[in-house]
Formats: sequence, structure tokens, C-alpha cells
Amino acid sequence: EKSGFPHFMLKEIYEQPQTILDTMRGRYSFEEGEADLPDIGLTNEQFAAVGRIWIVACGTSWHAGLVGKYLLEEMVRTPVQVDIASEFRYRNPLVEKNDLFITISQSGETADTLAAAREAKQKGARVVSIVNVVGSTLARESDGILYTHCGPEIGVASTKAFTGQLTALYMLALHLGRVRGVLSKADGKAWLERLVTLPTLVKRILAREAEVVAIAKRFYKKRNFLYLGRGINYPIALEGALKLKEISYIHAEGYAAGEMKHGPIALIDRDMPVVVLAPRDRLYEKTVSNLMEVKARRAPVIALVAEGERELGMTADAVFTVPDTHPLLSPILFAIPLQLLAYHVAILRGADVDQPRNLAKSVTVE
Ligand code: F6R
Repeated sequence: EKSGFPHFMLKEIYEQPQTILDTMRGRYSFEEGEADLPDIGLTNEQFAAVGRIWIVACGTSWHAGLVGKYLLEEMVRTPVQVDIASEFRYRNPLVEKNDLFITISQSGETADTLAAAREAKQKGARVVSIVNVVGSTLARESDGILYTHCGPEIGVASTKAFTGQLTALYMLALHLGRVRGVLSKADGKAWLERLVTLPTLVKRILAREAEVVAIAKRFYKKRNFLYLGRGINYPIALEGALKLKEISYIHAEGYAAGEMKHGPIALIDRDMPVVVLAPRDRLYEKTVSNLMEVKARRAPVIALVAEGERELGMTADAVFTVPDTHPLLSPILFAIPLQLLAYHVAILRGADVDQPRNLAKSVTVE
């Protein structure tokens, strides 16, 4: 059932070109430059009337939600508030009628996420959920649903569900952007043209797994890792760090690159590898200067950069290139090598990646 892969996690990492496609398949019209989301549960008029957007989730799904904020605010120009479900539900949140409340969950059974959705519904918000497990409690209780269609995810560390969630968020952002008149038909077509290239780009990254193995071999004995990203890739730094700690038991932290000088820089020394995500976007130069500060303190730098990049390639200790794409689409591509890095570091340390200690696939306790 692992189709020849040693672990479910690796199998699921490799399924991503297909699962990303499955999340999009049959859900858009090129001619209209629009997403076609029949189960979304809200009419165009209701979407047009949305005042604020909330995204609430836990763990990796929360990281997808953070990416969603950058995406929706850019593509829909509507304020988005992202919350951890266990924080949201206990603080009497200011949800109002006509708010759009998005939850994200692989299992659709996470207790805190469910409770948050119930609370939002009770306050009159419309709940749309991005869920992988068909017929799960969250799917049944939501007004609208966007299935990720990734198939069962067995590995406890979420991989294909995460990129499926990001893909679903692109579809939702496209729909909202079109309905609310922020995106034209031509804009919509341009988005779809970019989106459909993702599976091929992910395949190209997977074909270079050996490069990630080489990086893992150099650094797997370290006790701490720092992950830095900016803008829409800041949540990917958080996700990279979470993947590493879950399955390798190495302490890892994700940080917004610009925050480093406000504290964490004190930790940096030659024993702290720093993984830097540096897509070619308007923040690139800023990220390079953060990196120089890291280098000056002799920390080993593992740089993930866009193809064709030279500057960082010269300074970093290890470089992995990621296909150059629109900045808003880069998170999916940057997530893949980080999944592979966590996997191979864990394997080198002899950890059981499919069944990490203390973790359950579905967290139904509060
Ligand atoms: C991390 C991981 C967890 C889940 C979290 C939410 O790899 O799997 O952090 O993302 O427990 O689970 P779902 O998405 O099922 O609500």
C-alpha cells in the first residue's frame, strides 16, 4: 500500500503533483477566468456582501491559513484575520453577521476547529470549510465546503493535505476576487494559467530529491534549526520548522526574517543552521541582508532560492533552487524541499517518520 516507498510520508510527498491537480480538477473555467465551486454554499450576492474574512485552524492547517491571508488580501482586497482555533474559541471573538468564516482541516474532526466553527455559525457568520476527509463532521456542519481531494493521508506529518489546502485557497481567492470585482476575466485567466503549471513544477523539484539528501547529511546532527521567511513565505518557514520538530525531534523555530534582529539573532552561532526562503520578489534584497547578518555570526546557511539566482548562491553554505514562479504561488514550491529535508533528517536520525512519538493523526481532544 506504500507503492514501493519506505514510508507513507515519502509516498504522500511524491503524490503532490497529482493531488494538487486533483484539488483543481473540474473546478474552473478557462473561458470565464473563474473558479467553479458548486459546493461553496454561498451565492455570488452573499460573497459580495462579505464584510470580513476569518480563517481558523490548527497546526499545519493554520499555516495554510496564514498563507491564505496574504493571498486573499492581495487577490480580494478584503481584511483577513487568521486565528489558531484553540485561541479563537475561548476569547469571545468579534464575529459578525455576513463575516465569511473559513476553517481548514485535513481530518475535519479537530475538536478545537469544530468548536470554533460552531461558535462562528452561532454568531451568524457563514462557514466555508476546506477539508480533506469526505463526510467528516466539519464537512457536514459547514454551510459550504471545498474538498481538497488528496485521498487518505496516513503519515502523521501533513504534507499533501497542506499543498492541497493551499491550492484550494487559490481557487477560493480566485472566486472571491472575481465575484467581488477585484479581478477581471483576464486576471482570472492569468491566474489559472499559472496554477495549472504547479504540478509540473513540483515534479521538477521532486526529481532533485538527492540534493536535499546531501544537505540533510551535512546538518542532521545539529540540535537546533532556524527557518526564516518573509511575506507569503513566512508561514512556510513556520511549516518547515514544524515538520522538522515533529518527525526528527530537533528543536526548530520559524521566524519572520525581519523579526530576527529583535531577539532570535542572539541564538545564532556556528551550531545553528539557518534555512532561508528567498523567492525572487520585492522583499528579496531585504532577505539577503538578513542573511548577511546570519553569515557574519558564522551560522551555516541553507538557502532556498529561485532558479537563476546567483547572489545568495555565492554566500550560502548550501543552496537548493526552486522554479521561479509568481510570488503568490511560491509557497507551494518552497514547501516541498522543506518536507523532504525534514523527512531525510529524521531518517538519518533513525526516527519513525510515519508514527512520531506523542502525536496523533486526528486531534479530537481539546
Ligand atoms: C502537522 C500536523 C498537525 C495538523 C493539526 C490539524 O504535520 O499534521 O499540526 O495539521 O493537528 O489537523 P487537521 O488539519 O486535521 O485539523
